[in-house]
Amino acid sequence: MSSQTSTNVNRLRIRHLQESAAAGTPITMLTAYDSLIAPLLENAGVDMLLIGDSVGNVNLGYESTIPVSLADIERATAAVVRSTKRPLIVADLPFGSYEASDAQAFESSATLLKAGAQAVKLEGGAHRAQTIAFLTQNGVPVMGHLGYTPQSENTLSGPRLQGKGDAGKLLLEDAKKLEEAGAFSVVLEMVPSDLAAQITEEISIPTIGIGAGPHCSGQVLVWADMAGMTSWTPKFVKRFAEAGKTIEGAAADYVNAVRERSFPAEAHSRKN
Ligand code: KIV
Repeated sequence: MSSQTSTNVNRLRIRHLQESAAAGTPITMLTAYDSLIAPLLENAGVDMLLIGDSVGNVNLGYESTIPVSLADIERATAAVVRSTKRPLIVADLPFGSYEASDAQAFESSATLLKAGAQAVKLEGGAHRAQTIAFLTQNGVPVMGHLGYTPQSENTLSGPRLQGKGDAGKLLLEDAKKLEEAGAFSVVLEMVPSDLAAQITEEISIPTIGIGAGPHCSGQVLVWADMAGMTSWTPKFVKRFAEAGKTIEGAAADYVNAVRERSFPAEAHSRKN
């Protein structure tokens, strides 16, 4: 599928993120998966859009991110790129699209960059450093993802805080290895706030937190959680709206109006 229809000339670049982080200005990131929602998030001023593999849970009806395919992310990336101009676009490498070899990781990344992504995100610590170095050296900017990594939910026994106690030292080492390998930023998911603060202090690339407290260089949330589209949200999420209830209410009003024949009215119709 060849799908890029919008250039990236006016988009924020990695250097803009680095400038924000250096100036102490928090970086904002939300997930986006389609051309309906992405422009709303852009208009709100978000710096980065992540075409996350959370598209599986949010849009595709899967219970986890594991069934998400590269084609799912490619299609979603192209839609987000077509419908926005400014945010920096990061696309997730889904489970099974990068672990087998550096060549596989490059091929998958190339697919997403050709769809318009400016960078890819992949999960994992020191054991991914070689792949991150390979991708970076071959023109693919990489965002790391440490802490709770949903693609490993089966080895991590589900969503749980990571890096507690001594495990925090390993996580800090992982973050340093990702930086050394050339990652331009790292997501910290579900890690203690003081550990996230320490990592942010000790590495020079921006950290983007989710369930990692207020001391990261920036924050990311799944847009549907942030907007209150779902009946349940993780404890670390703030629901900034109840958009799901608003849409449900609008649909119920529509159903009633059609049934009682108050919609469409003459004003919504033409005689000829
Ligand atoms: O896929 C996703 O939404 C993510 C964020 C939770 C960081 O990876």
